[in-house]
Amino acid sequence: MINQKLPKMWYGGDYNPEQWGPEDWKEDHRMFKLAGIDVVTINVFSWALNQPGENTYDFAWLDETMDRLHAEGLGVVLATSTAAHPAWMAKRHPDVTRVDFYGRKRTFGGRHNSCPNSKTYRKYSGRIAGKLAERYQDHPALLLWHVSNEYGGYCYCDNCATAFRVWLQDRYGTLDAVNKAWNTRFWGHTFYDWDEIVLPNGMSEEGEGNVSAFQGISLDFRRFMSDSLLDCYKIERDAIREHSKDVPITTNLMGTFPQLNYFDWAKEMDIISWDNYPSLTTPVSETAMVHDLMRGLKDGAPFMLMEQTPSQQNWQAYNSLKRPGVMRLWSYQAVARGADTVMFFQMRRSIGACEKYHGAVIEHAGHEHTRVFREVAELGQELMQLGDMLLDARSDARVAILYDWENRWAIELSSGPTVELQYASEVHKYYDALFKQGIQADLVSVEADYNQYDIVIAPVMYMVKAGVAQKAEKFTAAGGTFVTTFFSGIVNENDLVTVGGYPGELRNLLGIWAEEIDALPAGQYNQIVMKKPFGKLEGSYNCELLFDLIHAESADVLAEYGSDFYKGMPVLTVNAFGKGEAYYVATSASAEFLQPFLKKLCEDRGVEPLIQEVPPGIEATKRVKGGRSFLFLLNHNAENAAVILGDGKHRDLLTGSIVQGTVELSGRGVMILEKA
Ligand code: GLA
Ligand code: ZN
Repeated sequence: MINQKLPKMWYGGDYNPEQWGPEDWKEDHRMFKLAGIDVVTINVFSWALNQPGENTYDFAWLDETMDRLHAEGLGVVLATSTAAHPAWMAKRHPDVTRVDFYGRKRTFGGRHNSCPNSKTYRKYSGRIAGKLAERYQDHPALLLWHVSNEYGGYCYCDNCATAFRVWLQDRYGTLDAVNKAWNTRFWGHTFYDWDEIVLPNGMSEEGEGNVSAFQGISLDFRRFMSDSLLDCYKIERDAIREHSKDVPITTNLMGTFPQLNYFDWAKEMDIISWDNYPSLTTPVSETAMVHDLMRGLKDGAPFMLMEQTPSQQNWQAYNSLKRPGVMRLWSYQAVARGADTVMFFQMRRSIGACEKYHGAVIEHAGHEHTRVFREVAELGQELMQLGDMLLDARSDARVAILYDWENRWAIELSSGPTVELQYASEVHKYYDALFKQGIQADLVSVEADYNQYDIVIAPVMYMVKAGVAQKAEKFTAAGGTFVTTFFSGIVNENDLVTVGGYPGELRNLLGIWAEEIDALPAGQYNQIVMKKPFGKLEGSYNCELLFDLIHAESADVLAEYGSDFYKGMPVLTVNAFGKGEAYYVATSASAEFLQPFLKKLCEDRGVEPLIQEVPPGIEATKRVKGGRSFLFLLNHNAENAAVILGDGKHRDLLTGSIVQGTVELSGRGVMILEKA
């Protein structure tokens, strides 16, 4: 449980009372009660208010706010206010503002704008976090600490350059080792002095859109920036911990956000929280995958849905309203996948600046007679009824998909073989094929212990870090099914190619070697031609993007390419390895191929889908807790849909009714079923 003080699914979100006055606050509280809201996140962007000058602090407004919220029966997620520095700080200490990708020094403005290696920023952010903790550690409303907000953005200033050199000295020891790791004899980039190393940006090695002439330095810069921002988090966290010993600490993450290695971050956080902002057209399985990834950050522990909009965003090109029922549906999607909170940005729409058209629980109309408010209030009642039933429930998936930020950086920085390869989309293809068949998967780090799984899928495992190949071998030898794809096993963690034939360190496990890699533009295909039926796979399937030209060594060939000069070469292989099997899919396969392919692997291992037939637009997922098992059925269609349940009777926890056989889910409807 996140905090014993509130033993239910938390319901609420970001609240900025400092933008309003006493009359509005009264209305806020009246409406919060109507909506069943019991927790608010405050003080996210109030640094300037809290610290009017170098050595002056003024927490009077916050004292009053905390007391008022408590008196009104609300719990507080207390942010540290450091996500936007005050104007006076930028003026007096120019080192707090960042330098951008083109070397331009930023002036004051915006948010998430502080240089992570600024001594000023580190000093003052740590100091205010400590002061807040000292002041509010025992406040009865306090439930959780929320450090800064959505960390992100890189800085290219001189302080960052200096810090980068120190980071490199720590990682490599000698300049000689750096030169080797980055292969600097290429284009004559050998460094003789640490000071010769400059940051890779638009003035040096990089161009727009992850283009780099030197992947080694660009990769290390990303690691360094992720670490630098994480250090800022740690400074505040440690300052809080000096006073507030037990209240959990988090910062809100952003799903597959490319810039930070969240597996590293998770180690420093007490609970994962994240902000979910899909658009009208985001595939529901993509949102599901990201929830699963957030759950995977801390070995399957429940996470917080820290923000979502009750209706629309303001920062997308087209800020569509969430259709009636969709807010509830997507809230339960988060819960189904491990969230123990449902929280919004924002409680009340502001009247000025860029978020005035961002959805809120209390809209500009200012009263409760709105569609959005009614939907929020209905959900609030339901969450109240669910009480603590689902808290701490976990997934018991037997399939794992590996996800790795450093691998993503390396793939997307790579010059060649194609500009189209997007790591997260390739992962999503595999995830989606399982999702559409009601097979639950966990997303886990390459460093995780995956022995508990029957099947481990590693889409595009381009970078093989030290020890990972041995781990995959051990897992397979012990009886696991391992699956990997094209463009895998190519480089080590410095993006240096493992020579002797791809897939390098994975060659022994897979029993193949790849001689060449073909790339075709979007819309051009080859085919996966099955040699004989494999489960329901039979005949020919289109494939695209990249095509490894492989030779089978100890592996069996299940399918061959259907055209071009490599027609007849293997495209799908399986290698018996110890008690298990290792599959190689040498190209980017379509859903028509991946669904039956993964189905067959699951059948071979006795991994059952959650429901036998998954109608289009239906999502099935499960959480388990102390011998109880909760099956969530979500209907993402606007129309009703029928779902065939397995044997036996089930209780729908939302209505209390008993169902069996075939159930009718209303359009955008949700059921949480437990065996009766
Ligand atoms: C982010 C931020 C919030 C707000 C929302 C708007 O998630 O954390 O402060 O700006 O976006 O969608
Ligand atoms: Zn900087």
